[in-house]
Amino acid sequence: MKYKDYMTGSLLHRHLGHCARALPSPFIVERPGDSLQCQPTRNVQPTILMTTLMTTHKVAILTGDGIGPEIMKEALKVLALVEQRTGVHFELTESPFGAAAYFDFGHPFPEQTQAVCDAADAILKGPVGLAHAEAMKIPVDLQPERGAVLPLRARYNTYANLRPVSLPKALAHLSPLKAEVIGEGIDILMIRELLGGLYFGKKVLGIDENNLRFAEETLRYDEVQIRQVVKTAFEQAMKRKKVLHNIHKSNILKSSVLWNEVLDEVAVDYPEVTVVNMLVDAAATHLCLNPGQFDVMVMENMFGDILSDQGGGLIGSLGLMPSACVGDGKAYYEPSHGSAPDIAGQNIANPYSMIGSVAMMLEYSFDMADEAKNIWAAMQGVFADGYTTPDLAAGATNDKVIGTDAFGDRVIEKLQAM
Ligand code: IPM
Ligand code: MG
Repeated sequence: MKYKDYMTGSLLHRHLGHCARALPSPFIVERPGDSLQCQPTRNVQPTILMTTLMTTHKVAILTGDGIGPEIMKEALKVLALVEQRTGVHFELTESPFGAAAYFDFGHPFPEQTQAVCDAADAILKGPVGLAHAEAMKIPVDLQPERGAVLPLRARYNTYANLRPVSLPKALAHLSPLKAEVIGEGIDILMIRELLGGLYFGKKVLGIDENNLRFAEETLRYDEVQIRQVVKTAFEQAMKRKKVLHNIHKSNILKSSVLWNEVLDEVAVDYPEVTVVNMLVDAAATHLCLNPGQFDVMVMENMFGDILSDQGGGLIGSLGLMPSACVGDGKAYYEPSHGSAPDIAGQNIANPYSMIGSVAMMLEYSFDMADEAKNIWAAMQGVFADGYTTPDLAAGATNDKVIGTDAFGDRVIEKLQAM
């Protein structure tokens, strides 16, 4: 990846525009390596043709660390196919982000990347982070989670994090739960508040009056922060089963008391939605015992971080957890998991969470819900055919345990058949 181009000021744009259907004969499709380009072959006016025939969306690509590059590659193959099928053009600009960006540029979210993200219509982000020992080489505040991910969330005011925990009955074998617990399948949309609570509250590290080292973090929410995410949750509930589980800890936390109060106020505008209030600790148990009772769940930041990882466990792997970070403006899309440095570069990580993040981007940023549905169906179809990747195979080796890239290829084949 030509990150160094940033130093010279020339951005590396990757056009997926191979537009076979949308463009007539003056254009040919070229495939140099894995990057696809559309080139005029005669003296025509390509810009005019492109603008009249194609919608263009600018997408910032933040590949990230660890398994980021290999799963992003598969996600971009899928996006290229969507482009080919629909004629919608995606203009991709790859930018450094995460630990690699820190080592190359001295910051995990360099200014140049901020500019690219500012100019984009949506952001597709891979996982970031390093193994503990490596992370320790970076000053605490510049480690990618604190220095890049939280600033990204804050910059675009993405206050709602949508995390689907979805496992059709046919794929029950991926889950550690018994088939009878999974019943008709798991289909939960966890909505996590993403800009408040302990993550963004005041933090103090110091020595107290007894000469003891102490750390203090503040859990703060105001009513606007609560209202906006809760409203998102009601809107999602209206599109689904009209049942909303409100996850809280109001028997202890004052922030939950306020949360519930505001939620009750918002609920007045959604009389068709049934609200079920549940304490967060109880919710953790209920998710294991009877996940089928949940449809949309809403919760504050830290609860959502933890329960959504549990969600990954319920369906067999965090690798099956894509997510959308949305607010009132630009959205960004990322796997819910970390960069898995222990399995990076070995072609064994499942690309589902990254490809699923593409599906969510198509649905939420670009109004292409049908294409998104096809992508989900294609990925689930590959699993249903018995294929999996080594990270999900629990040591099994046979011809159905295939690499990251081969899994991506099978997803493409399924999509092509739709
Ligand atoms: C997640 C991750 C992040 C979080 C990290 C990478 C900052 O665990 O998205 O769940 O804690 O929010
Ligand atoms: Mg997390």
